[in-house]
Amino acid sequence: MSVSSPARVRLVDVGPRDGLQNEPGSIDIATKVALIERLGDAGLSAIEAASFVSPRWVPQMAGSGEVMRALRRRPGVSYGALTPNMQGFEAARAAGVDEVAVFAAATETFSRKNINCSIAESLERFRPVVEAAREHGLRCRGYISCVLGCPYEGAVDPRAVAALAATLYEMGCYEICLGDTVGVGTPAATLRVFEACAQKVPVDRLAGHFHDTWGMAIANIHAALGFGIATFDASVAGLGGCPYSPGASGNVATEDVVYLLDGLGVETGVDLDALVDCAAWISGVLGRAPQSRVARARLAQRSREEQRT
Ligand code: HMG
Ligand code: MG
Repeated sequence: MSVSSPARVRLVDVGPRDGLQNEPGSIDIATKVALIERLGDAGLSAIEAASFVSPRWVPQMAGSGEVMRALRRRPGVSYGALTPNMQGFEAARAAGVDEVAVFAAATETFSRKNINCSIAESLERFRPVVEAAREHGLRCRGYISCVLGCPYEGAVDPRAVAALAATLYEMGCYEICLGDTVGVGTPAATLRVFEACAQKVPVDRLAGHFHDTWGMAIANIHAALGFGIATFDASVAGLGGCPYSPGASGNVATEDVVYLLDGLGVETGVDLDALVDCAAWISGVLGRAPQSRVARARLAQRSREEQRT
């Protein structure tokens, strides 16, 4: 297979969903809406805005319908949401999402902890969601969690991930997003899992979703880029984590990915300064400094510049 880095990358900011779902406190609707709008204003064309899951399981995502309805939508931006079953799909559709996502896991234990069913049962729940999405003209993404390691089962065989990727793709998911939920992956392991999945799913239908627990997310994205992967998830200010993945930190920060891609001359359509402003704002609302190295460095640089003038 010939392999080259893409000229343009599609970034999906999952901060409003993956980021906020793990916050200890509850976040009001107006803050969620403002975050999504600021991300659109910064140039993100795909934003995972909501999650239609059980509020008993993830209380922070309650009110997702209200968030979707209150949004000032920017033309050209796709607003997506997680939909684990038909109940979630119907709520997401009623709220006017542009795309939905089903989420499977590469290991049985994570599947049970996260969505209360086996992998096989989850696929049977997803099938009608994917079909209903197609009927209603909505795209459906398929996530696979724990592709580089599981918090409960440890190492994961790339062949098991590839088999699941093939099933979700054949079911009708337009894109298969490989999640390093725990954030333990390294570039070599990242390449192994993408290589295995590319045997079954076209490379341009694969995406990467890296948590940054062990600090390797940017290196993993660089490796995946070299393999031709052109869609990555990231979270403004490095917000996030999964409530059912103990010890995992936030997603790779969108600012860090944009800085990497700007430096490589890869287009994203995102304005780094506007994104840094958004990272500083949401971190302030949540009562902390941005997690991202790039946001911190840029903010420090700005304050030095201000002191000089
Ligand atoms: P369950 O308890 O097995 O569901 O949960 P059930 O079908 O037996 O229904 C039980 C109750 O839940 C019923 O209410 C349903 O109405 C309600 P009751 O009659 O008892 O009052 N219910 C719902 N309510 C709202 N929305 C729904 C829904 N479905 C049922 N869609 C379920 C199964 C899947 C619902 C639950 O386990 C769940 O919501 N899990 C979500 C977990 C989650 O959101 N995890 C984080 C996202 S995944 C992630 O972060 C990884 C990712 O980022 C990639 C990566 O990093 O790898 C994507
Ligand atoms: Mg995640």
